[in-house]
Amino acid sequence: MRNIFGQGAAFALALLLAACSGGDAAKGAGDAGKPIVVGFSQVGAESEWRTANTTSVKAALAEPEFRLKFSDAQQKQENQIKALRSFIAQRVDVIAFSPVVETGWESVLREAKAAGIPVVLTDRAVKVSDDSLYATFIGSDFVEEGRRAARWLLEDSKGRAGPVRIVELQGTVGSAPANDRMKGFREIIDADKRFAIVRSQSGDFTRAKGKEVMEAFLKAEEGIDVLFAHNDDMAIGAIQAIEEAGLKPGEDIRIVSIDGVRGAFEAMKAGKLNATIECNPLFGEQLAGLIRDVAAGKPVPRRVQVAEGVFTRDQAEAELPKRKY
Ligand code: AHR
Repeated sequence: MRNIFGQGAAFALALLLAACSGGDAAKGAGDAGKPIVVGFSQVGAESEWRTANTTSVKAALAEPEFRLKFSDAQQKQENQIKALRSFIAQRVDVIAFSPVVETGWESVLREAKAAGIPVVLTDRAVKVSDDSLYATFIGSDFVEEGRRAARWLLEDSKGRAGPVRIVELQGTVGSAPANDRMKGFREIIDADKRFAIVRSQSGDFTRAKGKEVMEAFLKAEEGIDVLFAHNDDMAIGAIQAIEEAGLKPGEDIRIVSIDGVRGAFEAMKAGKLNATIECNPLFGEQLAGLIRDVAAGKPVPRRVQVAEGVFTRDQAEAELPKRKY
């Protein structure tokens, strides 16, 4: 039998209930004995970084204080929109999500706002015309990460004659980290005429794609000097491609990537990766604090920054045992 309560009907019901309760879905959540119901939509499981982030979020939003409804979008925006609509229909207290891409969120965020459900953005930002569509953002400064990768390259290329031919493995097309890391990296290298980005293509933040695209780069370009990968997983995939092409990663092609996952430290220790720019996924506890405040109707900062560093090959051995992800 066909379900007569389709998505539209569920949404209308959510709106009606929100109106009856004065539009404050979070009201009462977190009161003694009442868990804060959180709908969390994760990007996927595309990288070591993402797995660590999911573990951190799940550990922090644990019972009895929270009741977590977790949904994995498998890197598809349409899955995330569906998940958000389902959270609205279930009248969760707070929605938190890490948006796959930056644009296309306007309608669903308006629906959440109309239902009186506050939204917390995690890790990746959105581009919307109305900032009141979300309560706060917690995550990294991706533009700065791109700048840090470029500054490392500048330092590493001191005294080197040009041209320095760079290939770039971008993250997911349209995602905040891909857009911002490209921007920050170019901001710095554009000032030095020795540097030229000869190829730039998406590897979708995965090892398999990173390898595949690097193979294509190696076939198309002679004399690649540098690889800038938007995450460690793609760099690790590319390292395999470079070795299979009979070249030495970290020597023939200098490599800088972003995240600072354990796999990157292992690659640095083996001399195959030159530097990793940290992007810290372990913000579950900070997120829990924000959700607590948002659910209680307390004011929260517009943006909460996660602390991060830069690590090079010579630090890998000492740092590796300390890495938590
Ligand atoms: O949004 C953060 C990025 O997404 C990480 O750098 C990458 O590894 C992940 O998939």
